[in-house]
Amino acid sequence: MRWDCIKSNPWAAKAELLVLFLLEDELNKGALANKLKGILGDIFGKEFKAKKNETYLFPGLGKFKASKILLAGLGKRADLKADGLRQIAGVIAKRGRAAGAKNISVDAETLRRLPGDSAANFRAFAEGAVLGAYRYDKWKSEEKNGEPKKELSGITLLFESSAGLSAVKRALQDGVAVGEAVNFTRDLVNAPGNRMTPTMLAREAQRMSRGVKGGRIRCRVLGRQQIAKLGMNALLGVSRGSEEPPQFLILDYRGGKASEKPVLLVGKGITFDSGGISLKPAEGMDKMKYDMAGGAAVLGALRAAASLRLPVNVVGLVPTCENMPGGRATKPGDVVRAANGKTIEILNTDAEGRLILADALSYAARYKPRAAVDLATLTGACVVALGSQTCGMMGNDGKLIAALKEASARSSERAWELPLWDEYSECIKSDVADVKNIGNREAGAITAAAFLKKFVSGYPWVHLDIAGVAWEEGEKPYTPKGASGYGVRLLVALLEGWSKKR
Ligand code: BES
Ligand code: ZN
Ligand code: ZN
Repeated sequence: MRWDCIKSNPWAAKAELLVLFLLEDELNKGALANKLKGILGDIFGKEFKAKKNETYLFPGLGKFKASKILLAGLGKRADLKADGLRQIAGVIAKRGRAAGAKNISVDAETLRRLPGDSAANFRAFAEGAVLGAYRYDKWKSEEKNGEPKKELSGITLLFESSAGLSAVKRALQDGVAVGEAVNFTRDLVNAPGNRMTPTMLAREAQRMSRGVKGGRIRCRVLGRQQIAKLGMNALLGVSRGSEEPPQFLILDYRGGKASEKPVLLVGKGITFDSGGISLKPAEGMDKMKYDMAGGAAVLGALRAAASLRLPVNVVGLVPTCENMPGGRATKPGDVVRAANGKTIEILNTDAEGRLILADALSYAARYKPRAAVDLATLTGACVVALGSQTCGMMGNDGKLIAALKEASARSSERAWELPLWDEYSECIKSDVADVKNIGNREAGAITAAAFLKKFVSGYPWVHLDIAGVAWEEGEKPYTPKGASGYGVRLLVALLEGWSKKR
């Protein structure tokens, strides 16, 4: 998508589609309102009230130079936050594309004068437009009505004066970089299981690393033998029921000082979760292609960190495999030894995410990370507890949890803390091994985290259960149905928070 900032009066702008922003509580104020009332009469104020995310499309009718006009509601001034701009941008991008516009021009002067930090507002606006324009139509030959796929290819921002635009341009650039990183993650997650095997995910990670300018990300891929050599038998055990070999991805972005300890990002990369021998029911099983959303978010966050040149060191770990019920698959009751030496009794092969993370979190210790955050579509129980509005957050370090809460507020990706008291570890005690991979029926999201905690030693750690937020069932202003790309913005905000403290 091309972005331009130019000095132009909206009335005079020759545009395919011109977007005009209006506030609900200031609908009748100013010259623009008078002009629109003159053109639209009663429609203005009745059909269109400028409520949050409301739009109204009409032809330019020769009153404007633009061929189509889109009115866009911002809601009430006092309620408008940066996420409101992300949302309206997403709505505009969608509406613009539906109206067949390749290029959209927007009255950016109004945006510049909104309350709040202008750079944060423009960044959110750019993020929203890139996110809202997204769709996953890779496997569709044509649109339903036989027309070719239409893409929105440019957005032009119209300003009254070109003074002070350099800060705006930088903010837009950052927003585009983050939006594209989220869309990259969405593409990985939306991909069908047969088009995103562990090997293919590894290839995508390498391609992404190479694509980042200046070679700022190094990507290593460990195969079955190297995984075995490291004693990652929990990961190997999960992969045994599949023909596809497991992979362990290690990505390294060094934006900070060489002496500085890295932040570790760990993501669950199950490219398809059939449940294994503890097979899942047929209904809805297709959705389990999104069980690598945590891994994909880690890859997206690294890509964004490198594009933004954040001055931090980040290491991404993505254990990836399929969970299938083949003849050599792990059986309920089997015992495996994880990379940190602890033994695990596997009582349910469908609780596989915590197994591959056990090895990854054990491996993480060698970096002596300043902090580690793992993201995983780990439990249905988390979806039952919190729904799809927020992920569940648990950890062993109050400061890191506080930093994530703060990053959550800035990125508008919600994270809600659940307790992780020692008592929760009682129910994962095994009769035959050091730990078992399931608890009882109670507090499933927390007992999963209690299991992970057994493999974390010597570093601050937070676990984000993203089972509910990684997939959008409906449609939101900047999130179409399917993969949401959750986690990329949150992680970027976390890394940015640390970048500023220096
Ligand atoms: N990938 C699933 C969790 C999941 C469920 C993600 C629904 C997204 C939507 C995970 O591997 C799993 O199957 N967890 C089990 C754990 C249970 C056997 C203890 C679950 O939640 O049922
Ligand atoms: Zn499972
Ligand atoms: Zn799973």
